Amino acid sequence: MMNYPEIIEKELMNCLPQGDERNCLLEKCLVDSMEYSLKAGGKRIRPTLVMLFSKACGGSEESALPFACGIEMIHTYSLIHDDLPCMDDDDLRRGKPSNHKVFGEDIALLAGDALLTHAFSTVLSERAISLVGADRAVKCGKILADLAGMSGMVGGQVIDLISEGKKVPIETISEMHMKKTGALLAAACMMGAVCGGADENTVNYAREYGINLGLAFQIMDDILDVTSSEEALGKPIGSDKDNEKSTFVTLLGLDKCYNLVNEYTEKAINSLKNINANTDELKDIALKLSERKN
Ligand code: IPE
Ligand code: IPE
Ligand code: MG
Ligand code: MG
Ligand code: MG
Repeated sequence: MMNYPEIIEKELMNCLPQGDERNCLLEKCLVDSMEYSLKAGGKRIRPTLVMLFSKACGGSEESALPFACGIEMIHTYSLIHDDLPCMDDDDLRRGKPSNHKVFGEDIALLAGDALLTHAFSTVLSERAISLVGADRAVKCGKILADLAGMSGMVGGQVIDLISEGKKVPIETISEMHMKKTGALLAAACMMGAVCGGADENTVNYAREYGINLGLAFQIMDDILDVTSSEEALGKPIGSDKDNEKSTFVTLLGLDKCYNLVNEYTEKAINSLKNINANTDELKDIALKLSERKN
């Protein structure tokens, strides 16, 4: 298997002005701030999924790279904003001080904004279009816009915030998880499928895989917030309790949550059976994530 995180990180750096070009900018601190969070590491799950789906659906991993970078930019922006004092107020991310602790809240906010817009610039760039064609690039842009925004990740983050300090029903938590985390994972899978030239049915199964993977992923994130350590996660533990968040763990307890992670992982893997291609690596990634420790 290719070293996806390494390839993605290299490509992400190519998406930002470097050297003299950056040093001349009056707004150099903005690019430094964007680069700081993009470079800080992270598991690179979303971009890896874009590349794996592209390959499975008949394309190549390389041709999916601009789309992989686009979604990682959006994910990174969501983390910068998620850590701000007006949201989860967390001071550590990817093993380093959160963006706003280094660059200040104002620049952190704007670095998030710039990563969000730069994602679309990257997905609709000449390079992206030359790699997969304008039709597929536009389709990817639309998927990303819809699933990152109001009815997807941003919507889910709002449900998360307005549910703080309340006992909300399980249906609300499911919808919140599906939107705040499932939507971007689904977007990654769908964009990869589109890059590879998948038909509509296959793109729908890619979506189903991503949503279920997202539910399993966020339930595990909530479990790790209670059971893991700051060193292992690279972010503070106990953040959900401090913010009086409603999570599957607070509502159902840890044992049931571990079962749910397995259940949603199985559902994700089942969706792959409908895809007429070699999806072994996608099955492996789902299983690995269900046992992840960070
Ligand atoms: C963290 O996502 C936020 C959630 C949606 C749970 P990741 O766990 O993928 O974070 P990184 O990218 O590896 O830092
Ligand atoms: C955030 O969920 C999901 C996002 C869309 C960023 P969390 O608030 O639980 O993510 P962490 O635990 O801070 O990474
Ligand atoms: Mg949050
Ligand atoms: Mg958070
Ligand atoms: Mg969390």
